[in-house]
Amino acid sequence: MTQKIPDELLAQFSELLTAKTGLSFAPKRWPELARGIAAAARDLGCDNAVQCAQRLLASPLTREQIEILASHLTVGETYFFREKKSLAALEDHILPELICDRRRKGHQLRIWSAGCASGEEAYSLAILLQRLIPDLDNWHLHLLATDINPRFLQKAIKGLYGKWSFRDTPPELIEKFFAPRERRWEILPRLKRLVNFAYLNLAEDPYPSLVNQTNAMDLILCRNVLMYFSPAQARRVLENLARALVDGGWLIVSTTEASILRFSPLTVVNFRDVTVYRKDPGSACQPETGTFHPTIKPAARLPEQIPARLDLPVQDQLPAGSGWTPVAVAEAPAPAPESEAGQNSPAERIEEMVRFARNSADQGDLAAALSWCEQAVAADRLNPAWHYLRAAILQEQEAFAEAILSLRKAIYLDQGFVMAHFALGNLALRQADKRAARKHFHNVLALLENHQPEEALPESEGITAGRLEEIVNSTMTMRKLGERYARVS
Ligand SMILES: C[S@@+](CC[C@H](N)C(=O)[O-])C[C@H]1O[C@@H](n2cnc3c(N)ncnc32)[C@H](O)[C@@H]1O
Repeated sequence: MTQKIPDELLAQFSELLTAKTGLSFAPKRWPELARGIAAAARDLGCDNAVQCAQRLLASPLTREQIEILASHLTVGETYFFREKKSLAALEDHILPELICDRRRKGHQLRIWSAGCASGEEAYSLAILLQRLIPDLDNWHLHLLATDINPRFLQKAIKGLYGKWSFRDTPPELIEKFFAPRERRWEILPRLKRLVNFAYLNLAEDPYPSLVNQTNAMDLILCRNVLMYFSPAQARRVLENLARALVDGGWLIVSTTEASILRFSPLTVVNFRDVTVYRKDPGSACQPETGTFHPTIKPAARLPEQIPARLDLPVQDQLPAGSGWTPVAVAEAPAPAPESEAGQNSPAERIEEMVRFARNSADQGDLAAALSWCEQAVAADRLNPAWHYLRAAILQEQEAFAEAILSLRKAIYLDQGFVMAHFALGNLALRQADKRAARKHFHNVLALLENHQPEEALPESEGITAGRLEEIVNSTMTMRKLGERYARVS
């Protein structure tokens, strides 16, 4: 017989859930919450729902526990081409303007479906982009789709859908962009490849961040997600999403969520009968580090001369005596006025270059970001952190081989550089090299043994060792890379 969870326990549990996931369960939804806990109890190895709620309240929730709760308590209702009016605003106004602008500026487009559920929204975007950009292969498209529920993400990665997902899709689109399989429809591989699915908890994980590539977004769709959040958590998410946008970037929520944006720093833009939001250049949601006023002009990007041979150890690829200097010091930009006056120490100048690199990356100016970063590398070439930052920027430019080379340099300088091993694993995944990904992720897990779970990892933007272990384990499960790994101690 199912044991009834007392209201007091449900109230405490719902508070914990809101803090950890953003999800809000008002008393009228407690029966639903109780059913979710009862279902999660089995997966969490508890005898019953009451014991489960008590146990989860007794110690900090792990990511695995959050994933299990999310898989029973989130609403994954979604379908292709949902809310046609906002998609029409996208297709008729927002995307054409963005595409026209980016065609002149490096053919780069960064879009994020935050709270993507089983992927229908992200693939709808991929279809729109395919229709609007005939030369899409020549573009650097970063189409990120994230969710807290790993089951939804697994379905999204499969890309196989039943009739219900197409309840509002014109048949000609199904014919054109899907192939029939097992009495369902599978998104075509060329569209599947465009979307990068990843786990991200909007209430807890860091964003915007170079680490998970949630920075410098031109467009974010976060639809039908915040309506399930507490008002305070929804506001926090919106503030972070606004910071993740480049100046002039767009945010779209569902029509029912507009009230949440009443006090947002974004500007309201109305397209006939749909309201969207835009970050203007002068809005209050600048990067956390403050307004970006470079005092030094970035040099034009100089290509890395070292060929990326993935089969050789990095030291074997370096020209003898080159000292790995990808940008000659003579090519460095004119020093800042303060530096000329001798006010900045070399270390401060490097710090300034790195700050400019990060700020440029946050604003989507990857060429400037790379240039600043390369100057930092040239000035301080034995610092693995700058090679790692360079790799993160190169990865955003889809210069994967060069990014791998930079990561290898970072690891050569610091073999215990966990985030660099982690980045190599993610790059291998992106290149569909499961064997290499497994190897890099095992390296990460082995290295994490040397860290305390609560220790924030260097260059991780605040990710703790315990959290990274959970991230790697769930990535390995989600991508079917092998067993979850348990800490030895
Ligand atoms: C109703 S679906 C919306 C799907 C899609 N955006 C749409 O409009 O069709 C809501 C999604 O938000 C996700 N979600 C809920 N809380 C989340 C959180 N804290 N972080 C990330 N995703 C979350 C759920 O797992 C679910 O997939």
